[in-house]
Amino acid sequence: MSEGFTLEKFASHPFYLEVNRRLVALTGLRQGQRVLDLGAGTGAVTRLLWQEVGCPEAEVIAVEPSPTATEVARRNLENLGGAVVRFVHGGAEMLSQLVKKPVDAVFFCNAIHLVHEKERVLQEIKRTLNADGTFSFNTSFYQGAEPPEAEQFYRRWMMRALRVLKSKYGLMPDRTRAEARQRLTEEEYVRLLEANGFRIRNKEVMTVQMPLGGFEDISEYSLWIEGVLPGVPLAAGADSLKQGAREAFQELGLKFSPRNWLLVVASRA
Ligand SMILES: C[S@@+](CC[C@H](N)C(=O)[O-])C[C@H]1O[C@@H](n2cnc3c(N)ncnc32)[C@H](O)[C@@H]1O
Repeated sequence: MSEGFTLEKFASHPFYLEVNRRLVALTGLRQGQRVLDLGAGTGAVTRLLWQEVGCPEAEVIAVEPSPTATEVARRNLENLGGAVVRFVHGGAEMLSQLVKKPVDAVFFCNAIHLVHEKERVLQEIKRTLNADGTFSFNTSFYQGAEPPEAEQFYRRWMMRALRVLKSKYGLMPDRTRAEARQRLTEEEYVRLLEANGFRIRNKEVMTVQMPLGGFEDISEYSLWIEGVLPGVPLAAGADSLKQGAREAFQELGLKFSPRNWLLVVASRA
């Protein structure tokens, strides 16, 4: 992850806390458990997990491939008492080699859509779980995340951002550098989990009313900028996306725009 362009600001929005908190509640953790936060990023979910299992016997393991994000997470979480929080560098594809002692729960929040080898990752997660362990994930990058009533806003946002990028910076995205990420549907996620030895325990869709500030702050996140404006320098991309979001909100007279999050809790079958 590039210097400074982390998810930290976006992750501090109340709606973001709410979708992650809901997933933790659906999972039903108990005090003293060992839980793993996969793709922990800057630690927003790690903190929620720590609050939930919070006694000295408990352990929260934050696994993350980006050293920049982990540095922010360490800074945010360094003075927590109670449960031990441990940071492990690495990706989901190697999870069982990174964490050898099985855990009671794995969380993979706002990140599963970034993974190419989903089957391999699910096998790695299964290997890392106790026999009665749970796997919980949420994502707002699946087919169905943008409700029909938000489509006009997304189109307008991108149009306006591209205009700013061109007029202010003389730039255009380089589509040949776009990472091909397949967005699964809710049903495809269910089939994928079942085919890889998981049983769905809970599944729900939460609709979040995102304010302009949410769109401005996601515009400062490197993975989002690289996804929608491939090949564009991050600072120019962030500025164009923020300006585009402001213009789209104003032109369409919006106070909020809705976005869906898919929440799933599964157990080993
Ligand atoms: C949008 S952030 C979410 C961070 C945190 N889980 C949250 O919900 O706030 C996605 C995170 O997934 C991480 N990530 C990307 N690819 C990954 C992989 N293959 N394995 C584990 N984490 C990955 C990124 O580095 C990033 O920190």
